[in-house]
Amino acid sequence: MTAGVSEWLTVRLARPGELEEVGRLTVEAYLADGMVNPAGSYAAALADAARRASDAELLVAVDPDGTLLGTVTVCTPDSPLAECSRPGELEFRMLAVAPRARRRGVGEVLVRTVLARATEIGAHRVVLLTGEKMYAAQRLYARLGFIRVPERDWHLRPELRFLAFAATTATSGP
Ligand SMILES: CC(C)(COP(=O)(O)OP(=O)(O)OC[C@H]1O[C@@H](n2cnc3c(N)ncnc32)[C@H](O)[C@@H]1OP(=O)(O)O)[C@@H](O)C(=O)NCCC(=O)NCCS
Repeated sequence: MTAGVSEWLTVRLARPGELEEVGRLTVEAYLADGMVNPAGSYAAALADAARRASDAELLVAVDPDGTLLGTVTVCTPDSPLAECSRPGELEFRMLAVAPRARRRGVGEVLVRTVLARATEIGAHRVVLLTGEKMYAAQRLYARLGFIRVPERDWHLRPELRFLAFAATTATSGP
């Protein structure tokens, strides 16, 4: 079980009673940055936290009052939700922080928890795909040591590309 703690934030698995709220927060986060069409199929996927909890590890970040601030979905390569990971890697998807809770390090704590989880299960790399215009996320990944792996980029359509990033973990050999 993955759990992480910062001075003021706890990261843990989402509880069954929280799934609707996690779905709402995820949609809200992507909408706030204009990253998703509210009527499209991806918004419906973002809202479906129940699926993420059953097909992957759905993590949430909560403050000391229990207020939900952010979420991330952690997928092993055999998860039906994995898009780009290969054996020995751990992937994360749908990182989202509520707009009111941004710029306080919540995203960073969530990604650091994924990196710790990778070390815990012996995965040598953490990988992800991100939208070309997700600049805040890309700065966060760069800050935490992720590098671009363009050979793993994914084209949904010729004009719609998702950028692959990867970070090696503490379990990686010399
Ligand atoms: C990307 C995202 C998760 C970042 O969440 P966040 O909690 O704001 O992330 P952080 O607080 O760790 O970092 C964001 C910025 O706040 C700054 N920051 C962190 N703690 C801070 C603090 N205590 N005071 C002031 N600034 C702070 C960071 O340095 C960073 O600055 P930068 O963007 O100029 O580099 C969030 O913007 C989001 O949900 N975006 C929409 C969905 C999305 O794009 N998801 C990515 C999918 S691949």
